[in-house]
Amino acid sequence: MPDPGAGARPPAALSMGAGFEDYVLSPAARRELETLVDLVAPAAVDLHTLDDDTLARVEIVIGSWGCNGLDAELLARMPKLRHLAYAAGTVKATVTPATWEHGVVVSSAASANAIPVAEFTFAAIVMIAKDVFRVRDRYREVRGAEPAFGVGPAGVIGTVGLRVGIIGASMVGRLTIERLRSLDVELAVSDPYLDDEGAAALGVTRMELDDLFAWADVVSVHAPQLPETRHLVDARRLALMRDGAWLVNTARGSIVDTDALTQECVSGRLCACIDTPDPEPLPPESPLYDLPTVVLTPHIAGSLGREATRLGDVAVAEVRRFLAGEPLRHEVRAADLERIA
Ligand SMILES: NC(=O)c1ccc[n+]([C@@H]2O[C@H](COP(=O)([O-])OP(=O)(O)OC[C@H]3O[C@@H](n4cnc5c(N)ncnc54)[C@H](O)[C@@H]3O)[C@@H](O)[C@H]2O)c1
Repeated sequence: MPDPGAGARPPAALSMGAGFEDYVLSPAARRELETLVDLVAPAAVDLHTLDDDTLARVEIVIGSWGCNGLDAELLARMPKLRHLAYAAGTVKATVTPATWEHGVVVSSAASANAIPVAEFTFAAIVMIAKDVFRVRDRYREVRGAEPAFGVGPAGVIGTVGLRVGIIGASMVGRLTIERLRSLDVELAVSDPYLDDEGAAALGVTRMELDDLFAWADVVSVHAPQLPETRHLVDARRLALMRDGAWLVNTARGSIVDTDALTQECVSGRLCACIDTPDPEPLPPESPLYDLPTVVLTPHIAGSLGREATRLGDVAVAEVRRFLAGEPLRHEVRAADLERIA
């Protein structure tokens, strides 16, 4: 039976890796999406493979990881495209200057992707404060006996009075601060876009970057990857950190000079929790895989498993607002790109 509403709904396409539509769209989100738009294909599709007539009708693209790049060549075949609702974090691999020139309104689910990263960082800092990773290793070695706990600055110190330095009051940085405020830690933030008023609203102290490195027991990186943040954490700044301090990087590998960090961790002077190394993945011979001073994970802080459905929820809600003529909550403008992840 023909669907009476289909003609009234704007044609839309799912552009993402094969099968990702079932990953980011919960059954409820898909049902809602199908009340809002008329999907030209039920599953994710490579837009380049659609015939000209179908592609020319598409008004909305729901994108996610693996989305086609919206460059001038593809957009020339999509005269009616007006909204990209991106169901993942950064849109930088998808949008081009032509996207906005074409009049496409772009929204992203980076705010939802920030939630698990902040949870991961919070958990990592709690575990670091109890030196859990090295205690686990020592317990294995002495099995059957009580392992000796370290005390003092390089050993187990707990979260009370722990000095946590946050680089970047980004979405992840802010959610991390919010969660850390439930602990008795001291918090400082470095961010060139944050003024004293903004820091006070967050309940944190603003600090110059060098001072933050010298002050903190744990430095956690939450800045975006930008030309000016490349190797923001370099050998000189790492040298400012106290012996036994931890660097947490759940942001992007390029922000940290990996060689300099590796040297500090090989010597045992510093420790690191690295979710996003540079390069990704690290070469097999990297000492960072095996060092007792390092916790290395393969970019798992962001949305995984059921967490991914939050991304679809944000994208569908943005499509709903867009079609209702309401302001979007997560719009990304061309000018934002020089400041955001
Ligand atoms: N590990 C993962 O799976 C994962 C998942 C999501 C995001 N990330 C990463 O986490 C980081 C934060 O992501 P986001 O979406 O919260 O970022 P965001 O887009 O909110 O970051 C933008 C903000 O960063 C701050 N900033 C800009 N330049 C800065 C600088 N030079 N120094 C310090 N702060 C600066 C500003 O406050 C700016 O508004 C990014 O590097 C992102 O790629 C990682």
